[in-house]
Amino acid sequence: MLMEELNKIWLITGICGQDGSIMADYLFSLGYTNIHGTMRRSATFNTNNIDHIFDKLKLHYIDLTDTMNVFNVISKVKPHYILNFAAMSHVKISEELSNYTFQVNTMGILSILQSVRSLNLDTKIYQASTSEIYGNSTDGSISLTENSNMHPVSIYGISKMAAQQICDMYRDAYGMFVVNSLLFNHESSRRGGNFSTQKICNYVAQYYVNKTSKPLQLGNLDSRRDWGCAHEYMKAVYLMMISDKPKNYVISSGETHSIKEFVQIAFKEINIEIEWSGTGLQEIAIDKKTGDLLVQVNPRYYRDIDIECLLGDSSKAHEELDWEYTKTFKSLVNDMVVAAIKRQLK
Ligand code: NAP
Ligand code: GDD
Repeated sequence: MLMEELNKIWLITGICGQDGSIMADYLFSLGYTNIHGTMRRSATFNTNNIDHIFDKLKLHYIDLTDTMNVFNVISKVKPHYILNFAAMSHVKISEELSNYTFQVNTMGILSILQSVRSLNLDTKIYQASTSEIYGNSTDGSISLTENSNMHPVSIYGISKMAAQQICDMYRDAYGMFVVNSLLFNHESSRRGGNFSTQKICNYVAQYYVNKTSKPLQLGNLDSRRDWGCAHEYMKAVYLMMISDKPKNYVISSGETHSIKEFVQIAFKEINIEIEWSGTGLQEIAIDKKTGDLLVQVNPRYYRDIDIECLLGDSSKAHEELDWEYTKTFKSLVNDMVVAAIKRQLK
């Protein structure tokens, strides 16, 4: 790659999260060196995902609810690229933190766009949009594209849909380079512990290392998600940013699996065959061999409205960005369980 490109400045919001940290690793691996990241003040250390690159990163405090702070950092850094990964990213928690979710997820990107525009910068801006904005638009019989019906059913989804529309409007009205990726669920060992996949893998690892007596408590076992690998998705985001034309893209694996399937495969990784029985709140999973109770339903984890199925079609990203998804579902689960076991053994 040309030196001129590699000298460009990136500003990544939400650098301590899953995607921000993986993206920073990817940019360093490509040879970029001017990588700025934003974190927010925390009473306890939460830099696990970036400790290995802490000294290479240029870090700033940003809270997206503080517009002046956003403006000041952008005006100081003058980035060529802004990747906005920062968000209140938990769907269930957005039921309780609804105003705050809008302030971070919707007003936050607006502050970024306004800052870049009023500073008259030629910055390319990326917004992490989400498959949550589709709501219950498919039962799995059709795959969702950039043009599918969007009808979000959560505060989180609505806040992200508004953010996406604001980005589209800035692109159309002011000719700015602004792109949204419609990211379907993507996972890695850096996934937060209160998302379903990491919660399941952490439990399986705990069970493997140090048999816990309390069963895993989950909510809706039947919902299905199009789960992909976060590392591969960050490559797609990079391709969107270096492309000439700003466009929105669906980024997905093209397969959908239920929570039950995820649980089943995760236990299989530690050689446990599970058996399901019962329905609704009474549904359980036991170890087929020993009869030990492994999974129970706890209504605490149910949502006001859930999305029952997500399935994406990333043909546009494949055709226009030459991006292709390669990882299998089984190996994604396998990697997460192995990483969780390693963390347990530390
Ligand atoms: P994540 O791990 O939850 O990371 C979110 C980051 O945002 C964290 O670093 C968090 O800081 C930061 N943040 C939260 N509130 C903030 C605020 N008020 N001001 C500044 N920063 C704040 O999420 P992720 O999985 O990496 O996802 C990245 C982005 O993609 C998010 O916007 C998410 O909504 C979107 N997305 C994710 C998926 C997925 O499956 N992962 C799918 C579709 C879209 P702390 O570290 O201090 O908490
Ligand atoms: N978190 C969680 N915890 N989810 C559970 C549980 C549980 O104990 N039990 C069942 N589920 C079900 C949820 O009801 C949902 O149907 C599914 O598991 C997935 O939940 P999450 O892993 O929390 O992910 P999400 O789909 O709600 O949201 C993630 O993906 C979105 C993209 O579709 C997040 O990363 C969002 O930020 C992202 O936009």
